Amino acid sequence: MIQTRVAHIHIPGVKSRRFLHISDAHLSRAYPEDTAEEIAFAEKQAVRWGTEGRKTWDNFEDLMTLAGQMKPDALVMAGDCIDYYHPSCLRYLTEKLEETGVESLYVYGNHEGASYQYRVPDGRVQYPAYARLIGPDPAFWVREYGDLLVVGLDDSEREITERQMALFDRQMERGLPILLVIHVPLRTDGLLPLVRQHWGADGDRYFLLGNDQQSALTRAFCAKVTAPDSPVAAILAGHVHFLSDCPFAPGKRQYTAAPGGAWDIRINTDTSRTADH
Ligand SMILES: [Fe+2]
Repeated sequence: MIQTRVAHIHIPGVKSRRFLHISDAHLSRAYPEDTAEEIAFAEKQAVRWGTEGRKTWDNFEDLMTLAGQMKPDALVMAGDCIDYYHPSCLRYLTEKLEETGVESLYVYGNHEGASYQYRVPDGRVQYPAYARLIGPDPAFWVREYGDLLVVGLDDSEREITERQMALFDRQMERGLPILLVIHVPLRTDGLLPLVRQHWGADGDRYFLLGNDQQSALTRAFCAKVTAPDSPVAAILAGHVHFLSDCPFAPGKRQYTAAPGGAWDIRINTDTSRTADH
């Protein structure tokens, strides 16, 4: 069963829209032409990251059925939707998305370029393989909706680059509200204790963006996003593997999706609808 929670996001003057936000599907898949080891490993990982005794691909197929019925403006995929880089995993995911016929907005997570067999010094090395799923620039992309921008940014290495910062600045200057999609969520007062509870006392080092251990540039990015005049209206993230919705600024929330858990994001201009949150 997929757990779906509804989030009403109030953005004055913006057309009503709906997004299905997922993350961390950790899909692994092999085909008969793969080796016996690859097939066995894909199966093992599908059980490892499955929920309630169901394999990852069973959960994902349920999600695709839901997306097909819901027909959201887009399916927002906040990273780690692939468990490890392998052409068969990408083939499976690409085919499922195309069958569903719902537009996907996909950010790169730390697993998209990862391997369990050998250490990958920088997971971003696999960017070219994701051209079809993400587009030509997985580091930074923008989906224009006229009165709303959805900005996707790869923060899977838990750092923001100078190039990403410059590209983000340019979007912030446009005066349009932004839905920011990232994999590693921003460190916030609300999310920090939940992460420590789930991943241990120093879990925030690995699971959150904006720690003291990270660069000044990354912390400056977080400060910009959370500033009172920031155009970022909501953040859609993943990585922590539990559903959460914590404020990052007054009246604004950051949502994390989870394996087996999705957010039904409803953008509306009606203030009374925000009473749910
Ligand atoms: Fe992750």
